[in-house]
Amino acid sequence: MSKVFYGMSGSDANETQAKLVWYYNNLRGKPSKKKIISRERGYHGCSIVSGSMTGMSFYHDHMDLPLPQIVHTGVPHHYWGRNPGETEREFSTRRGEELDQLIERLGPENVGGFIGEPVLGTGGITPPPEGYWQAIQAVLKKHDVLLIADEVITGFGRTGSMFGSQHYGIEPDLVTIAKGLTSAYFPLSAAIVGEKVYKVMEDGADKVGAFSHGYTYSGHPIGAAAANAVLDIVEKEDLPGNARDVGAFFQAQLQEKFAQLPIVGEVRGVGLMGALEFVADRKNRKRFDPSLKVGARVSKAARDRGLIARAMPHGDILGFAPPLVTTKGEAEEIVALAEGAVRSVMDDLVRDGERI
Ligand SMILES: Cc1ncc(COP(=O)(O)O)c(C=O)c1O
Repeated sequence: MSKVFYGMSGSDANETQAKLVWYYNNLRGKPSKKKIISRERGYHGCSIVSGSMTGMSFYHDHMDLPLPQIVHTGVPHHYWGRNPGETEREFSTRRGEELDQLIERLGPENVGGFIGEPVLGTGGITPPPEGYWQAIQAVLKKHDVLLIADEVITGFGRTGSMFGSQHYGIEPDLVTIAKGLTSAYFPLSAAIVGEKVYKVMEDGADKVGAFSHGYTYSGHPIGAAAANAVLDIVEKEDLPGNARDVGAFFQAQLQEKFAQLPIVGEVRGVGLMGALEFVADRKNRKRFDPSLKVGARVSKAARDRGLIARAMPHGDILGFAPPLVTTKGEAEEIVALAEGAVRSVMDDLVRDGERI
């Protein structure tokens, strides 16, 4: 990576990324290469372009979004998306083929960028299936499409590597960062620009003038000071290493305590991010009736026990993102509180006559 353009939020950083993709292709003499592909259930913010990138209809409905320049492709979630008998690798290959077909349909001369979170965050804390990023990157290379890695959640250690891109062998052209950059103590985000894009911008600036884009608060000194203080601690205390070690323990605990429960369809996660997906029928992969609000009830039961774990929007999902300084003892405590919450809701469902 080469240069950093600072902003105040993940949303505005992704607006910057879209402009970079468009500016880059204009400077390269490819003015039609403008569409940006994102994934269903991806989350990239809620401003006009970033909200369009977000692959969740409730961020679009009644707000005239998504913009026509933004197109969505299938969610990389093997549990719900797989065909009968399809392995993770086969599923990833299929997602790659679908992307290839989508780009062919739109015309490769019309597709400029692809944006994705290394691990789906708001869309359900879903790590990519095996081979997913390799399959996607091969298609993007083939069609000369820029890859934007949205590391707003995965940046600065959450997966157990400093960046999710490193964790999954992703080689992005542009990277979006926010949250962990200041541990969210101050609003600071950034669009990191890779050398390939920057080189074109640098050469082009002589012809068309500077990249006219900037906010009053871009690179705010208080944000920069907060980021420097936070990143010193991230490095000194090796928080990515802690997320890797404690994260492995946390993931094992989640598997041990939840994988066999009759209402748990999938236990998933990486490092210090994880999720439980609740289903009415494990064998036939059937969801609970949404009116039962199982996810929200588990989240409330957890909170009643002193644990903040989020009910995620796409189904009955309980999401965990404990602090990167979490110890093994605390991870155990988190899992024990969550187990109490899940079992209490399970008991209520049985009492109310649900067949589980
Ligand atoms: C992956 C990702 N990208 C972008 C955003 C948007 O960031 P912000 O809420 O700071 O605009 C978020 C926020 O949760 C996010 O998780």
